[in-house]
Amino acid sequence: MTTTDASLALRTEPTPGVPRLDIDPFGEEFLSDPMPFHERLREEAPVTYLDAYGVYAVARYDEVHRALTDWQGLQSAAGVGLANFRREKPWRPPSVLLEADPPRHDAPRSVLAELLSPRRLRVLEERWRSDARTIVDELLARGRSFDAVTDLAEVFPLRVFPDAIGLGEEGREHLLPYGDFAFNAFGPRNRLVTEGQAAIGPTMAWINEQCRRENLAAGGIGERIWEAADRGDITEEQAPLVVRSLLTAGVDTTVTGIASVLHAMADRPDDWRRVREDRSLLPRVFEEAVRLESPVQTFFRTTTEPVEIAGVLIPADEKVLMFLGAANRDRRRWEDPHAFDLDRDPSGHVGFGMGIHQCVGQHIARLEAVSVLDALLDRVAELESAGPVRRHLNNTLRGFEALPMRLTPA
Ligand code: HEM
Repeated sequence: MTTTDASLALRTEPTPGVPRLDIDPFGEEFLSDPMPFHERLREEAPVTYLDAYGVYAVARYDEVHRALTDWQGLQSAAGVGLANFRREKPWRPPSVLLEADPPRHDAPRSVLAELLSPRRLRVLEERWRSDARTIVDELLARGRSFDAVTDLAEVFPLRVFPDAIGLGEEGREHLLPYGDFAFNAFGPRNRLVTEGQAAIGPTMAWINEQCRRENLAAGGIGERIWEAADRGDITEEQAPLVVRSLLTAGVDTTVTGIASVLHAMADRPDDWRRVREDRSLLPRVFEEAVRLESPVQTFFRTTTEPVEIAGVLIPADEKVLMFLGAANRDRRRWEDPHAFDLDRDPSGHVGFGMGIHQCVGQHIARLEAVSVLDALLDRVAELESAGPVRRHLNNTLRGFEALPMRLTPA
């Protein structure tokens, strides 16, 4: 083989020695039940190659952590989905956070990190806790059976989050479908994307309209983002895209997070009782549920240069798929990884990512989940499942369509 042939071959063939797998991580069989596939991905080798899309994949904790924290070698600006923005046009102008590298990433990141810091969120806490109590009271007034997704996990974020941003009342029903579409769009153009595409036009128009300064209420996080543009901390072009990043990433994720923690805590009467008596365990309950369920399952990176991971040299300009959900259940890092264990220290999980792109909204997610759980623990003595779980398929999120439950009032 000549040198030219070899370099051509490198474009379509993985690095020699890297196992090629015929797994489709966006196929419906995979998305319905990823665990057996995760097991294969983890156990086959530290780095594998997925023939279905011609991408490298990492599923063990160490390698996922390594990929997340090397922003120089594994960039985000070429897209954190399957599409390579160097060759393909993104479906919308790229995010100035998620899909940006330093130095462009720095200013929007520091503006949001400050606005969404625990210190700044403290003003919301009392209101959110009181809203959570009201929602749980409404739930109890309707009887003992409920759906943890449609009656609770969706209701709470949609009540508190748009107000915190400063959105108007009209059109909020667009938020969930927009997030669903955006998270699907990180995958290939499969059925999930094409079905969502049909209705996305008016939803996108509504979202873009909400990001404009004149449509954001005084005192909300959205207005504060525009004030950062007035100060020159970010540009006027970046401001609406920073607001958009909250509307994209801030709702479906927390709905899935709250549903995940309720799913994890149902049918665990001993844990439920324990947390009722010791609320200092609440943050750990949420963190362990995020580790176990990993509401955000995957993200991609693109190599900027030949990058070595676990002894494998991945050439430049290759897509690398990181299985966060698989890393969070890697037996090399976690003892009894598939168990929900309140005595475990779940810190270090990659459910919120790691490194410079680590979730900037995680304190919002925590505050929402803890507010809902605390209100439930006050008023509910027992929580049991009352029917089969139905999953909501999405190319990136591991969500729920239905979580039937029964509660016993305290
Ligand atoms: C349980 C809920 C949530 C989960 C599991 C989650 C997960 C993640 C993950 C894994 C990343 C890293 C992406 C990467 O490395 O490429 C991320 C980034 C991000 N998240 Fe979250 N998220 C949640 C809630 C939220 C909320 C509530 C917001 C907004 C209020 C938000 C906004 C963002 C933004 C803007 C980024 C990009 C940060 C950057 O690139 O610097 N997320 N999230």
